[in-house]
Amino acid sequence: MDPAQVSGKTSEHVLTYADGSRRRVFVTLVETPYPHGKLIVSRTDTLGNITQCNPSFVEMSGYTEAEIIGQPHCILRHPDMPAAAFRDLWDTVKAGRQWNGYVKNLRKDGGHYWVYATVVPNIRDGQIVGFTSVRREPSREKVIAAEVQYRSLS
Ligand SMILES: Cc1cc2nc3c(=O)[nH]c(=O)nc-3n(C[C@H](O)[C@H](O)[C@H](O)COP(=O)(O)O)c2cc1C
Repeated sequence: MDPAQVSGKTSEHVLTYADGSRRRVFVTLVETPYPHGKLIVSRTDTLGNITQCNPSFVEMSGYTEAEIIGQPHCILRHPDMPAAAFRDLWDTVKAGRQWNGYVKNLRKDGGHYWVYATVVPNIRDGQIVGFTSVRREPSREKVIAAEVQYRSLS
C-alpha cells in the first residue's frame, strides 16, 4: 500500500510480520469486487518472494508488475488478517501439503479484495522449490463467516 495513493476516509494500522518487522499502513473500507470467472495466480520462491504473477493479480493488487515482482507476498497483507491464518498456511505448505483459505488482501490504494486461495508447494526431485497460489471468487456467505472468525483470532 502506498500512502500517496490512498484517498478518502482512512484508518491507520501497524502490521507486525512473522519476522518481527513492522509496517505502517492506511486502509479504506473500499472493496474491489472479485473479477468474475478469472483466476488470480502468483508464484513465490521458498521464502514467499513473488517470482511470477498473472495480469489479474497485477490488476487487483493496484501495483504494477514491476513493483510486485521480487517483493515478499506480505506486501498484500491486510491488518484484518490474523497472523494465525498465515502460520497455518506456511506450516501446511512447508510440510508439502495444500492449503485452502479465505484471504482479505490489501491493495496499493488502501482498499481490499477477498479471495478463496489454494496454495501448493512446487516440488522438483523431492524438494520444495517454491509455492503457487491460485485464487477464485469467494461466496459472500463465506466471506462474512471468515470476517467473523478472523475478528475472533486477531
Ligand atoms: C504462494 C503464496 C501466496 C501467498 N499469498 C498471499 C496473499 O495473497 N496475501 C497475503 O497477505 N499473504 C499471502 N501469502 C502469505 C505471506 O507470505 C505472508 O505469510 C503473510 O502476508 C503474512 O506476513 P508474515 O508471514 O510476514 O507475517 C502467500 C504465501 C505464499 C507462499
